[in-house]
Amino acid sequence: MAVLKKFRSRWLSQSDPPIEPEKKAKTATPSWGMSYDIRPLTISQLEECWRLDQRCFIDGEAYSKETFDYLLTAPESVSFRAVTSGGVMAGFVIGLVEPDRTGHVTTVGVAPEHRRRNLAKRLMNEVEEAFRKRNVRLVRLEVRTLNTPAQKLYESLGYTISQTLPKYYSNGGDGLLMLKSLD
Ligand SMILES: CC(C)(COP(=O)(O)OP(=O)(O)OC[C@H]1O[C@@H](n2cnc3c(N)ncnc32)[C@H](O)[C@@H]1OP(=O)(O)O)[C@@H](O)C(=O)NCCC(=O)NCCS
Repeated sequence: MAVLKKFRSRWLSQSDPPIEPEKKAKTATPSWGMSYDIRPLTISQLEECWRLDQRCFIDGEAYSKETFDYLLTAPESVSFRAVTSGGVMAGFVIGLVEPDRTGHVTTVGVAPEHRRRNLAKRLMNEVEEAFRKRNVRLVRLEVRTLNTPAQKLYESLGYTISQTLPKYYSNGGDGLLMLKSLD
């Protein structure tokens, strides 16, 4: 995931109390035959997406609501969610078309109980397709050097490591820059 600068909230005032993520989320193991739809992710899903992100990124790097507010409303954003037949968000991906026309995958996450069902792969394919439609030919993303599952995912999709990003993350962890050409 990318480290993004802080965004000023359009809807939180200084005096608002901090918002705590829900203590308990519904995490019953879903059946293996369950089917999922991939749909656009919009500002209407801000709350649900933020809560899911808190469950995906337990390393202190989860995005704030303000950051999601920006990411889900920016015209350069291309975002998708994976949804269960019951309408619950199981995963999400957010990409930005950067000014230099590269596609930047800022974050992708799948709820722990829905992992290894190809949801991240489907979400990545969808965001790449949306990038193609906007004439993007190169996609970049950042990933922690210690995040082996995510690196395996990206490698399986054709991303290659371009460079190391020393101390990229706020806790001092190193990152890797990965790139993929869209043909
Ligand atoms: C990384 C993450 C998004 C993968 O989601 P997912 O839906 O489970 O991934 P998929 O089922 O689409 O996996 C596709 C391929 O990626 C690789 N992969 C995914 N998870 C893996 C794991 N835990 N170990 C090894 N390889 C893994 C495999 O090659 C897999 O194919 P396979 O299942 O046929 O072997 C998910 O683990 C997650 O949300 N992690 C926390 C948030 C995070 O780290 N996001 C990435 C930030 S850079």
